[in-house]
Amino acid sequence: MSTKDHLIIFDTTLRDGEQSPGASMTRDEKVRIAKALEKLKVDVIEAGFPIASPGDFEGVKAVAAVIKDSRVCGLARAMDKDIDRAGEALAGARAGRIHTFIATSPIHMEKKLGMSPDQVLEQAVHAVKRALRYTDDVEFSPEDAGRSEIDFLCRILEAVIDAGARTVNIPDTVGYNIPDQFGSLIRTLKERVVNADKAIFSVHCHNDLGLATANSLAAVRNGARQVECTINGLGERAGNAALEEIVMAVRTRQDLFDCDVGLDTTHIVPCSRLVSSITGFPVQPNKAVVGANAFAHEAGIHQDGVLKNRETYEIMRAEDVGWNANRMVLGKHSGRNALRSRLLELGVVLSSEEELNAAFSRFKDLADKKHDIYDEDLQALVSDANLDAAKERVKLVSLRVCSETGETPSADLVLMVDGAERPGTATGGGPVDATFRAIESIVASATVLKLYSVNAITSGTDAQGEVTVRLEKGGRIVNGQGADTDIVIASAKAYLNAVNKILQPLARAHPQIGDV
Ligand code: KIV
Ligand code: ZN
Repeated sequence: MSTKDHLIIFDTTLRDGEQSPGASMTRDEKVRIAKALEKLKVDVIEAGFPIASPGDFEGVKAVAAVIKDSRVCGLARAMDKDIDRAGEALAGARAGRIHTFIATSPIHMEKKLGMSPDQVLEQAVHAVKRALRYTDDVEFSPEDAGRSEIDFLCRILEAVIDAGARTVNIPDTVGYNIPDQFGSLIRTLKERVVNADKAIFSVHCHNDLGLATANSLAAVRNGARQVECTINGLGERAGNAALEEIVMAVRTRQDLFDCDVGLDTTHIVPCSRLVSSITGFPVQPNKAVVGANAFAHEAGIHQDGVLKNRETYEIMRAEDVGWNANRMVLGKHSGRNALRSRLLELGVVLSSEEELNAAFSRFKDLADKKHDIYDEDLQALVSDANLDAAKERVKLVSLRVCSETGETPSADLVLMVDGAERPGTATGGGPVDATFRAIESIVASATVLKLYSVNAITSGTDAQGEVTVRLEKGGRIVNGQGADTDIVIASAKAYLNAVNKILQPLARAHPQIGDV
């Protein structure tokens, strides 16, 4: 039995990660990711900001209803209406936490809140007490702690711990801190706050200077016992500390840490893929732990070393983080039950026989084009918006592209728009460009294309291409995904998926900017 402390892993992919422009998720997508996080055995899942919109409320409620082994958390500003809404969303949770926050840096208090430090302190204490009406597990964050005055931080932390906060989280909201300085901030707070022993100290680092992981680890070495992080480092601007990096650093360097994590790390890579495919944020190949090259050895000298003894160049085992995990392969002859049970294992619950029928028919179409169907293909099958197709206003009926040496590429397509078939045609610099122009000739979305990327989901020339399209309109950003063995069709699906999102009205608040 280890005598080490337990390091709590608090995942905020579904809240801070989702605040990343274009990364918004539906309720069902949140539930799928939450189930994957539960399998990974994260301690706390921050599922959203319930007051932001009815959709956010439903997302937190749905996660709270299905997750049994992790604690489910909802974010609330230090305001009664936020806290009550969070309490309501978490009512069905087996173990729920309310995370309430208010800014404490001089610039935030003066310019954003227009409040004095005493008023901020009073509101923080009031918020913690109100949250205790709903759960005994209350976390408090002094937002922008990384730029706050230490005396005031000590004062407010002592007051909220006295009021009943069990966890006090120190956010480096704007990613301004540097590892040794952030580590000593945590140490100083733990030494100076007189009732520090009554609460867990947590950290929440943003990556604006590329230091989120380093700052979090420095904090752990100085007494933090909870780290807030996201899968793939997803998050606003440069993102949050990456869960996979924190967890594997602590695991790999047990000689340096006096605490350990309780995660089943073999689920890290599948979880990373799921988040990437749902949000459309690709993982760069050289990303630590989960990048495609993280365990690939190109240079001959490295390969030779690894073949003789893997530890010459590998500090972690690929299989320990879920690379090459056994992936059940389905094919042409697999039946509906095999599909249903594999999807269930992947956390996908089809809510009706019609949904299963639709998924099965697309599975059969795919199996006609592709011999082996992997988990990644199934993820794409259910996340490329196909399952939601019935609800979409604009759908692809047919597409024909012509691309020939020396000729201008052209696309002819038919879309179904609000139930009526509409033909469109266009030429372009390439078949994808022509297809997007043909779609625009019908929908006239007035959006700007911000990103177009193609990823092969599995290996082989029959692999499905997974396309991400990012569109912007009036400052609002959406991502669309599409997957198909034909990448022009995948591109059309992705573009339409994004257009359909832009067509939906958005009434949603950001927790750290503006009002609800
Ligand atoms: O970055 C931040 O300060 C936050 C708080 C809401 C904890 O996300
Ligand atoms: Zn944050």
